[in-house]
Amino acid sequence: MDTIDAIKTRISTRAFLDTPISQAEVEEILDIARFSPSSSNLQPWGTVVLAGDSRKAATDLALNTLMKNPAGEADEFPVYPDNLPQKYQDRRAGVGKAMYELMGIERQDEAARQAWAVDNFNFYGAPVAIFFTIDRVHGRNQWASLGMFMQTVCLVAHAKGYGTCMQEIWAMVRNSLHSHLQLDDKDVIYAGLALGHPDKSKAVNSLRTEREAVSGFSQFSGF
Ligand SMILES: Cc1cc2nc3c(=O)[nH]c(=O)nc-3n(C[C@H](O)[C@H](O)[C@H](O)COP(=O)(O)O)c2cc1C
Repeated sequence: MDTIDAIKTRISTRAFLDTPISQAEVEEILDIARFSPSSSNLQPWGTVVLAGDSRKAATDLALNTLMKNPAGEADEFPVYPDNLPQKYQDRRAGVGKAMYELMGIERQDEAARQAWAVDNFNFYGAPVAIFFTIDRVHGRNQWASLGMFMQTVCLVAHAKGYGTCMQEIWAMVRNSLHSHLQLDDKDVIYAGLALGHPDKSKAVNSLRTEREAVSGFSQFSGF
């Protein structure tokens, strides 16, 4: 698969087969992704890779934490600003609507929506979970480099035939998860990633999200 194909055909996978992935396979993906660029080559990323009981324990931790506090933990790094402009609210709602439609979940079906959120915390059934961390000393420039690294991980995984889904939902339990994983105080968990073999029989994996045309987000000059 060439780079352009990889970029254009990667999608977020939200239903996985339970086919296991070995540590060596994950290491191979990370070993390639580490060539991702970063500002001044700081390579500000860290990963915590979980499988088996460790992966299940992260899911249990999240569900137990949210049982006590369904709104999620107070978060130092909110996923969205309070005043998210309408354009972005529309895009966010658009992907949610398209996804629920594909799965046949009605807007009012709270139970089905809740089950879907639980599945998010279950890494959509993926056998491997990766949490991305960054030293809290870093500001937004280094967080951008972490994002590039995450995209590289997803592209490498996709090129090798795996599916991925980045998961910001873990921000809801960022603090408990930090303690659970016994991370150093200096580190912050940014997001999770589900990694596994896509279940191609599931409709949700056929979701192709829309993108704005280049003319909508670019200015050109001097050509
Ligand atoms: C940082 C980040 C966090 C995300 N968190 C979640 C998540 O918690 N759950 C989920 O189902 N999808 C999550 N996504 C997937 C996005 O919804 C998805 O990338 C977007 O709708 C575009 O679709 P595509 O990845 O299929 O191209 C996340 C994506 C990114 C980049």
